[in-house]
Amino acid sequence: MKPESIDAPESWIADLEFEKCGPLRRALKKCITNPFSNYFPAAFQKTALRFMRSELAEANWTDPGGWRSMVISYDRHRHRFADKLLCTLGTIPMALRNRRKLGARVLARLIDASESEPVEVLCLGAGPGQIITDALRECHRKARATLVDISDAAFDYGRTLAARSGTASQVRFIKGDVCDVKGMLDRPPDIVKMLGICEYLTDEQLTHIVGCLAGVMGRGSAIVTNSLSLAHGTDRFFRRVFGLHMIHRTPEELQGFLAPAGFSDFKVLAEPLGVYHILIGRKVR
Ligand SMILES: C[S@@+](CC[C@H](N)C(=O)[O-])C[C@H]1O[C@@H](n2cnc3c(N)ncnc32)[C@H](O)[C@@H]1O
Repeated sequence: MKPESIDAPESWIADLEFEKCGPLRRALKKCITNPFSNYFPAAFQKTALRFMRSELAEANWTDPGGWRSMVISYDRHRHRFADKLLCTLGTIPMALRNRRKLGARVLARLIDASESEPVEVLCLGAGPGQIITDALRECHRKARATLVDISDAAFDYGRTLAARSGTASQVRFIKGDVCDVKGMLDRPPDIVKMLGICEYLTDEQLTHIVGCLAGVMGRGSAIVTNSLSLAHGTDRFFRRVFGLHMIHRTPEELQGFLAPAGFSDFKVLAEPLGVYHILIGRKVR
């Protein structure tokens, strides 16, 4: 990684168009829709979502926070009315789409700034790989990505996506638990992407994974991860209705896991809803 490469990452994202929430919509969410979703009896909400055949709810009930729910949140075309409502109006799906844009741009620029070629990117909890696929299509250097996920089905979808995007020769898929990352480091990564995964990992798991990565990552290599704040205002809804228990951590708390393992020079980029921040760290020792 060129020493100056991540000095001003704000300039990388200046032209990105994010989804935003105006003051009126924010007030409506705060005063009406969020209290309703958080406190209206969960059994009624579940019944209504089942009756409306919500694919997003079904995906979360089967695999809370899994890759299917991401695909539905990212997709422009949703089959069910309930999903149109949830994904268009819901703060988390909007913030997820913002995070995808932000993450892909950051990865593309980090790839371009890397000194090795091909640039090796390791994606932990990658799902089908939408974010890295976007980045591979946008970057100008030769890069290869290893996608690790616990779900086979995510990779079936991911192979189709890679074939359609022309990136099939650049990606490989490893099915496994990110906690076993030690056995997946045959190509020491120049960039590690941990987007959409830390919120499902305990402190102990995170410490273990970061320690394994730090053991093989060279000086100047980069790690990209995301924090999660309670700014979405619907944690109670996600826990009670979707069965989704996410761990909220600030960028500073995430830095607390990375710094002892030798990462520093942290940069933080926010998506405009304030739900996710992207944290970039560089291996300095
Ligand atoms: C919320 S999705 C994020 C997908 C992708 N990173 C994104 O941001 O679009 C979380 C992914 O992490 C995977 N996952 C969760 N726990 C895992 C673990 N312990 N090991 C490997 N993959 C895991 C899930 O299967 C799912 O595909």
